[in-house]
Amino acid sequence: MARIVAGIGSSHVPAIGAAIDNGKTEEPYWKRVFSGFEKSQEWMRETKPDVAIIVYNDHASAFSVDLIPTFALGCAAEFPPADEGWGPRPVPVVQGHPALASHIAQSVILDEFDLTIVNKMTVDHGMTVPMNLLFGKVDKDAHWPCPVIPLAVNVVMYPPPTGHRCFMLGRAIKKAVESYPDDLKVVIFGTGGLSHQISGPRAGLINSKWDTAFLDNLSKDPQKLVKIPHVDYMREAGAEGIEMVMWLIMRGALDDKVDEAYRFYTVPASNTAVGHIILENRGRGAKVGGKKPAGKRKPTTEKHKRAAAAAKVDRVRS
Ligand SMILES: [Fe+2]
Repeated sequence: MARIVAGIGSSHVPAIGAAIDNGKTEEPYWKRVFSGFEKSQEWMRETKPDVAIIVYNDHASAFSVDLIPTFALGCAAEFPPADEGWGPRPVPVVQGHPALASHIAQSVILDEFDLTIVNKMTVDHGMTVPMNLLFGKVDKDAHWPCPVIPLAVNVVMYPPPTGHRCFMLGRAIKKAVESYPDDLKVVIFGTGGLSHQISGPRAGLINSKWDTAFLDNLSKDPQKLVKIPHVDYMREAGAEGIEMVMWLIMRGALDDKVDEAYRFYTVPASNTAVGHIILENRGRGAKVGGKKPAGKRKPTTEKHKRAAAAAKVDRVRS
């Protein structure tokens, strides 16, 4: 049986992708951002998921105003990087998992969530930047460490889905994954945000207090978040802060009680607040592949004890 072992929240700032692609990750401005993901990459290498479901939004790359699916599930065998105006990012083609994706589509649609099934699609920075942040830089001719099922959510054109609808879709995805017969360890990403506004009189808006409360509730009391109306996101987190509803799909796909394994928050990157969190389902990893998740393994050597202590919740603010 497949299991979702953890959820990952991550911003997808396009300038982060440009910094990776142009070799700027060691520059002081960017090092501050990338250093916050070093432990996460270590966590990911230890967790070794079989599949990642990545909830993200397309930025008029694969879709346009001609076609605006609210929820679009990628069921293809592969997803090439999109040309976002300056050529595709130099990252590998994303390999899909058509069998699990089709199973999720069937289960979720029969649960009355009307997904759009996508059999051909490019993927833009909304997906590839969080992949780089969690998997590290991967050469264009190499392979990402695991197959990915993209779930594109409309947060670009009004009306986006409500936070409650997103959370309940996450619940349906959880049920779908847990009814898949193969023994797969699955992680799910919620991406986008945190607070930012890229145009208009409030361009540059960042609200760290809002972002921190969002991360706190995501971890401990997500039901508080599902009630937040769109207008509150727009007012408090900026026009593009509405991307944060996508994190609620990830949270809905997890158990009610989770362990917060890691958190990172920094401002700014470009004109955006960068947020990141890893939430682990309790004990689920032990049932998949016979290996406990990284946060649950007992350190046995001095080296491992030091690493475990360093990997405890790490809040970085600047
Ligand atoms: Fe975005």
